[in-house]
Amino acid sequence: MNVLSAIAAPETLAPLLHVLSRNRFLPAPPPSLIFCGDGDFRAIGAEFLGHFVARGGLAPHERVLDIGCGIGRMAVPLTQYLDESGSYDGVDIVADGIGWCREAITPVYPNFAFHHLDLAHPLYNPEGSLPTTSARLPFADESFDFICMISLLTHLDMMEVGHYAREAARLLAPGGRCFATAFLMNPPARAALEAGGGALAFDPSAPGPVWYADPAAPSAAVAFDEDTLLDLFLRAGLRRRPGAEYGHWSGRPTPVFQDLCVFERG
Ligand SMILES: C[S@@+](CC[C@H](N)C(=O)[O-])C[C@H]1O[C@@H](n2cnc3c(N)ncnc32)[C@H](O)[C@@H]1O
Repeated sequence: MNVLSAIAAPETLAPLLHVLSRNRFLPAPPPSLIFCGDGDFRAIGAEFLGHFVARGGLAPHERVLDIGCGIGRMAVPLTQYLDESGSYDGVDIVADGIGWCREAITPVYPNFAFHHLDLAHPLYNPEGSLPTTSARLPFADESFDFICMISLLTHLDMMEVGHYAREAARLLAPGGRCFATAFLMNPPARAALEAGGGALAFDPSAPGPVWYADPAAPSAAVAFDEDTLLDLFLRAGLRRRPGAEYGHWSGRPTPVFQDLCVFERG
């Protein structure tokens, strides 16, 4: 067992995550450049690395694709976990985020690459030239072992979610996993929202299957009926692993914010 495979063991992961959340020698974008995600850039990245390993079974030698990689919040901690035989590709529609990642990360970790996609999104890239549903991501079939979509589906419409589910199914090698976060509307989430504890203004009495926290800016926060979203992934060829963890966005007393799902290629 080498050092990195020892780190992947659950009992040794926690000290790594602790160090990653505090290590100010790791690059972080200046606050003025951070266009997505509140909270502590390093701590949240470290938290998600923990989820990738503990829930998604991510190993140091695997090939990772991060769809909606933003400004490197997941990539930075992954530089300390993936080894030279592993790789990371991040894609995003915000050119400034990709630019910062290319300058801050790739020169030091050449196995980390970042790709700009000029896709239209009302908030993140209003001038984008193509719809997401027409985007074939620039990678060959079965190129990845692990795909993450962190706080991405929460900004897309149903057609776009279905499209990325199919792209994930195309791009995953046999045994590959797709780790996604979402706001999944189901009876416990509705009950918690009705009790008034939710962090976002989704109307639990609305019929769905899609809810917007702010109807004036629909893509700011999107929730999906859980069965509908699972069906989109299932039809794409990805089955959810049992044991999803539900977040406290709806008011449920749980440690994570968004719901966490791991899908696997059948
Ligand atoms: C809330 S941010 C999360 C960023 C990153 N995953 C993280 O957790 O730090 C949502 C990201 O999704 C990206 N995004 C939105 N629509 C997209 C699309 N159609 N394809 C790829 N990325 C998209 C945005 O540009 C933004 O970087």
